[in-house]
Amino acid sequence: MNKMTVRDIDVKGKRVLVRVDFNVPLDEKTGTIADDSRIQAALPTIKYLVGQEAKVILCSHLGRPEGKVVDNLRMTVIAERLSRHLKRPVQVAMECIGPKVERAVAELKGGDILLLENLRFHSEEEKNDPAFARALASLAEIYVNDAFGTAHRSHASITGVAEDLPAVAGLLMEKELATLGSILDNPARPFVGVLGGAKVSDKVGMLENIMNKVDALLIGGGMANVFLRAMSFDTGQSVVESGSLSTVFDLMKEAAAYEVRLLLPDDVVVTDEISAEAEAAVVSIDKIPTQMKIVDIGPKTIEKFRRELEKSRTVFWNGPMGIDEIPQFAQGTRSMARILAGLKAATIIGGGSTAEVVIDMKLADEMTFVSTGGGASLRFLGGRSLPGVEVLLDKDGK
Ligand code: 3PG
Ligand code: MG
Repeated sequence: MNKMTVRDIDVKGKRVLVRVDFNVPLDEKTGTIADDSRIQAALPTIKYLVGQEAKVILCSHLGRPEGKVVDNLRMTVIAERLSRHLKRPVQVAMECIGPKVERAVAELKGGDILLLENLRFHSEEEKNDPAFARALASLAEIYVNDAFGTAHRSHASITGVAEDLPAVAGLLMEKELATLGSILDNPARPFVGVLGGAKVSDKVGMLENIMNKVDALLIGGGMANVFLRAMSFDTGQSVVESGSLSTVFDLMKEAAAYEVRLLLPDDVVVTDEISAEAEAAVVSIDKIPTQMKIVDIGPKTIEKFRRELEKSRTVFWNGPMGIDEIPQFAQGTRSMARILAGLKAATIIGGGSTAEVVIDMKLADEMTFVSTGGGASLRFLGGRSLPGVEVLLDKDGK
């Protein structure tokens, strides 16, 4: 990576503003943290700064409060969890800018940690308002971005603050960019991409960018429906993103030109209603009943994908194979997670819902890397720059 990191700058005793992505899923009923992977992923940077006796000022968004104070999106629960992981106190501010925060910052000693209130309680954060960014930046002498999961957003705490402060990458940011970058640069072969999720349009950029790098693409989820339709199969009542048909024709041509093996479902799980009580049936793709819709890949397809994956040395997976919230439509996705967990290959999991499944199944430790970024990893693998990375100082000092 050609960006400076927190190790390349003298942070000793300095006030350091660290943008983290503590946007963790919360349990709807209890308001407790459902999964704290993103908090754990930020620990190395925080520990490093504490070790350097920096005055650590952490900031993040949580949820989408849209510029208003929402009490159950306050950062208090996050501070408690962070404090438990670090085994040291984490102060929490009730604001993210203003005189009270300035006083709290002035009282910090080397090694102290202060977590600011949810940045998105101010609409200026998402608008990248210059005055808001300046107020945030004025709290510190150095800015560290460790929020890979939000690096695709040009918000005040991501890009705005970098106008006023020397800006460097945190250790999670460095690891994310290095790991995802290694897929693009020099993957061990065979390199297999497993792609699912609802829409082709979300993934076109990434598909186009990795097409000349992968040896095989295994396609499932709602996006497979468009490929099936492109091959003239009757997909019944399945949701088919018909606007993506011509894109899919192009992708199929590209796959052929690069000699990429494109593996699509041979059998699928179908149902007539999408509900927890729905009944599921397995059918071959040339026998999809007109009144049914596709909700998962079938067992033959899982076996075909398994055989391909067992030959691979690098696997990147993004997107569920079916509707993973409903158990009878989640077998494809859950099988992919189990198969990948058992491989000797380097297994890299895109963030978002794919990471959630892997974490929920307690298989994250069996994978080589689980990204903390959903939208950010898609954009990065699509070959597009991330605004939050662009603003960081280059290694050669520019
Ligand atoms: C995410 O979880 O996608 C990141 O934290 C960014 O949040 P956002 O999608 O609400 O901008
Ligand atoms: Mg998002």
